[in-house]
Amino acid sequence: MATQAGNASKPALIDPHGRRIDYIRLSVTDKCNLRCFYCLPEGYKDFTEPSSWLSFDEIERVIRAFADLGVRRVRITGGEPLVRKNLSALVAQLNAIDTIDDLSLSTNASLLRRDAPALKQAGIARINVSLDTLLGDRFAQITRNGQLATVLDGLMAAKAAGLTPIKINMVVMKDVNDDETEDMVLFCLEHGFTLRFIETMPMGDSGRSASLQYLDLDIVRKHLAGRFDLIDSVMPGGGPARYMNVKGTDLHIGFITPISQHFCDTCNRVRLSADGTLYLCMGNEHSFALRPLLREGISDDDLKHALLRALALKPRQHDFNSQPGKIVRVMARLGG
Ligand code: 5AD
Ligand code: SF4
Repeated sequence: MATQAGNASKPALIDPHGRRIDYIRLSVTDKCNLRCFYCLPEGYKDFTEPSSWLSFDEIERVIRAFADLGVRRVRITGGEPLVRKNLSALVAQLNAIDTIDDLSLSTNASLLRRDAPALKQAGIARINVSLDTLLGDRFAQITRNGQLATVLDGLMAAKAAGLTPIKINMVVMKDVNDDETEDMVLFCLEHGFTLRFIETMPMGDSGRSASLQYLDLDIVRKHLAGRFDLIDSVMPGGGPARYMNVKGTDLHIGFITPISQHFCDTCNRVRLSADGTLYLCMGNEHSFALRPLLREGISDDDLKHALLRALALKPRQHDFNSQPGKIVRVMARLGG
């Protein structure tokens, strides 16, 4: 065993289904300053206590162990990650790990006016922003009282700070915002953002009820093809989106289709929750608790062995279609 995770031979993280894992999604809090109806149930209070969160030093230890095992990319997510105090300090700690060469952030953008320059300075290269509508009233409905203006202001601050690319993630839902896909294309064209459409997933009670508004993104693609000249394209970044380019422009539009065409065969990721639990798949409960090991003073080598043991639990794929009632945990726990 010692050689398996030792420095002499660095094993790649290959899961039981032959997939190479080189990407960690790191949730730093499950709290959020918005309340999107498809993500959190009304009045949801079941957030984890900050006392159970990993400290920045503990997070750095886990990411260093992953980096030693071949992970190159980390995305910081939430809840809303900028709700966690002094996040830029964590970014700087992770940025100092030599072999992590892609450090990105998923955010709702509402705090970016305050934080974008510090994040950029600390080492965040690029961001993904959740934005489902450009209409203020509708934004307030979807987010249960959020302010669109704050988000747009944050987006512009991110652009001014030089974060690039900025990708807009829009969960498209029937009779909620499916009349806005063209407007979102025009908005992203105007500002030089990348656009990604996402299918609603039945995560937790809120995700399940929102799934009544589920829309197959093939319908969106066909609709947009009637208005724009779309050609197949690729975009570096290793995500599961399939991209199209609006001919003659720099705009890339990604389609993320976990339901109509799942992409589990090429899954390259695992997720670490704020309380130090490693989740092997967003659509399954398979998990491995790292916090107790960290607090018991586990050695670096044993930590790497633990990560390899955890990876052996990674399931082949989600069961959102065959068992939509399966996932109780809300999306905010892992940040998508
Ligand atoms: N289905 C699809 N996407 C979701 N998100 C949150 N809940 C769901 C759901 N049930 C999205 C957010 C964000 C990303 C992190 O996950 O809108 O874009
Ligand atoms: Fe990977 Fe699970 Fe997402 Fe499929 S559902 S892509 S296996 S994390």
